[in-house]
Amino acid sequence: MSELRLQKFLAEAGVASRRKCEELMLQGRVEVNGVKITELGSKVDAGDIVKVDGKEVMQEEKKVYILLNKPVGLITTSKDQFSRKTVLDLIEGVKERIYPVGRLDYDTSGLLLLTNDGDLSYKLTHPSCETNKVYQAKIKGVLNDSAIQAFKTGIGIDGYTTSPARIKVLERTSTDSLIEVTIHEGKNRQVRRMFEAVGYSVIKLRRISIGPVKLGNLEEGAWRHLTPEEVKSLNKTV
Ligand code: URA
Repeated sequence: MSELRLQKFLAEAGVASRRKCEELMLQGRVEVNGVKITELGSKVDAGDIVKVDGKEVMQEEKKVYILLNKPVGLITTSKDQFSRKTVLDLIEGVKERIYPVGRLDYDTSGLLLLTNDGDLSYKLTHPSCETNKVYQAKIKGVLNDSAIQAFKTGIGIDGYTTSPARIKVLERTSTDSLIEVTIHEGKNRQVRRMFEAVGYSVIKLRRISIGPVKLGNLEEGAWRHLTPEEVKSLNKTV
């Protein structure tokens, strides 16, 4: 934590609203390292012990939820042994320690969530999570009916059978097709491997939504905070 005004610290820790926290200070109910603090400009730093009515207040970091339109060519892990660029290099001006929720391949683009909310992240990436993720895949060739049927019933990939997926052909030319696939699992390279298993190769892959959160027309490489409504509805899906 960097130095913070005491009333902000108290509000972020969930004691009360910032205004109410100021009142608590003025009432002499707040102490820092054993000293009563009534001055509203006072600051606290990491390691300071803050108490309200004699009870210690634990710092809670503000929860941050970010939606990034990940470009191809970045990794989603925070550190890379080959020093490749990571998605975190694109997020500037956020002081909280955020990290990606799950992963998108180096060669996949689209919607990636980043947060410091460990609870939500855990639930969204847990195998039991049934939140839908929607992908658009440009594939080589024209998808035949048996491949479409295989997506709908489940496809064997390395000894694992995928859950039934939703599949829609969005566009088709003589050489390739644009397909929308909806799954709720998150096996490594799952969508690519599902197509490969039925005989098609993926030229491009992009994730366009996770549950109620949509990529929309955010530019590649750009990011934004989720709205409170998006956070609320995402929490409802897990
Ligand atoms: N499926 C894939 O094949 N790759 C991703 O990045 C995500 C899902």
